[in-house]
Amino acid sequence: MINIYKNEIESELKKYFEEYKKNSSHSSLVWDAMEYTTLLGGKRLRGIMCLESANILGADYKNALPLACALEIMHAYSLIHDDLPCMDNDDLRRGKPSNHKVFGEAMALLAGDALISFGAQLIIEKTPETISKDCVLDIVKDYLSCAGAKGIIAGQCADILSEGKKIDFDTLEYIHRYKTGALFKCAILTGAKIANANLSIIKKLEEYSDNFGLLFQIYDDIIDCTLTTEQLGKTANKDALENKLTYVSAYGLEKAKNIFCSLIDKNCDILNQVGIKSDVFNQIYEMLVRKVK
Ligand code: IPE
Ligand code: IPE
Ligand code: MG
Ligand code: MG
Ligand code: MG
Repeated sequence: MINIYKNEIESELKKYFEEYKKNSSHSSLVWDAMEYTTLLGGKRLRGIMCLESANILGADYKNALPLACALEIMHAYSLIHDDLPCMDNDDLRRGKPSNHKVFGEAMALLAGDALISFGAQLIIEKTPETISKDCVLDIVKDYLSCAGAKGIIAGQCADILSEGKKIDFDTLEYIHRYKTGALFKCAILTGAKIANANLSIIKKLEEYSDNFGLLFQIYDDIIDCTLTTEQLGKTANKDALENKLTYVSAYGLEKAKNIFCSLIDKNCDILNQVGIKSDVFNQIYEMLVRKVK
């Protein structure tokens, strides 16, 4: 199933770019830049988790495809800006030169900006009409607020402002919950909303997705210093180089791995409690654990 989801997201994204790129003569370069990072690959976890969340709660996952693509588009924007010289200054992304290395900083900045509104537009224009307008509105609200200054941006601010500062454990958790967690939370909860999930399930999935965002960024901190640049497709040991506050710098590698594993255990318990089974979520955990071990 995971590969089916991934392929559907890839081909849908390609289709959207073909359709919307047309007749944009003065902005064709920015469209190229938007398309470059978005279609460069990646695990597509945010999109996949959204589709699976809809699926396990009884919806046809295809109804969530525009949303899943929009989540990957939002993610691509966040990567483009994260790599800029004024942010993490990384020249490599998904195994290829970062967006600004190919298109220049100005185009990379503009491509990131344009991707946010493109994603919202796709949710509104491409979500099938079987999904109510109220539901679409609610999803777009979640999508835009997770990107904002109480979401991803809040985490990115704290991340940048904490560089080289003394360890503050609360701030560290805050950074991870927002810079990375906000989008995963949005993916899982909006998928559930497509399935019209009831409030008690949404509550449980809030806790689940909060944990997932945190454990995913801990995983990213761990592999930053344990895998090679080639394996990562982005520069290895970048966090130490930029003096980032990470779970590895704050707790050490072993403790960071323990926290990562205990969050996975917690999440498996949460799904058991509500009687939901997901092979896709389990496969994602297996994939992450394999890389961390
Ligand atoms: C990288 O995310 C950035 C983080 C939020 C840690 P992913 O590891 O999901 O990147 P791709 O999409 O697979 O390239
Ligand atoms: C990613 O954090 C957060 C966002 C892109 C919003 P990182 O800075 O650790 O991500 P990578 O390691 O560059 O992918
Ligand atoms: Mg960063
Ligand atoms: Mg970075
Ligand atoms: Mg990282």
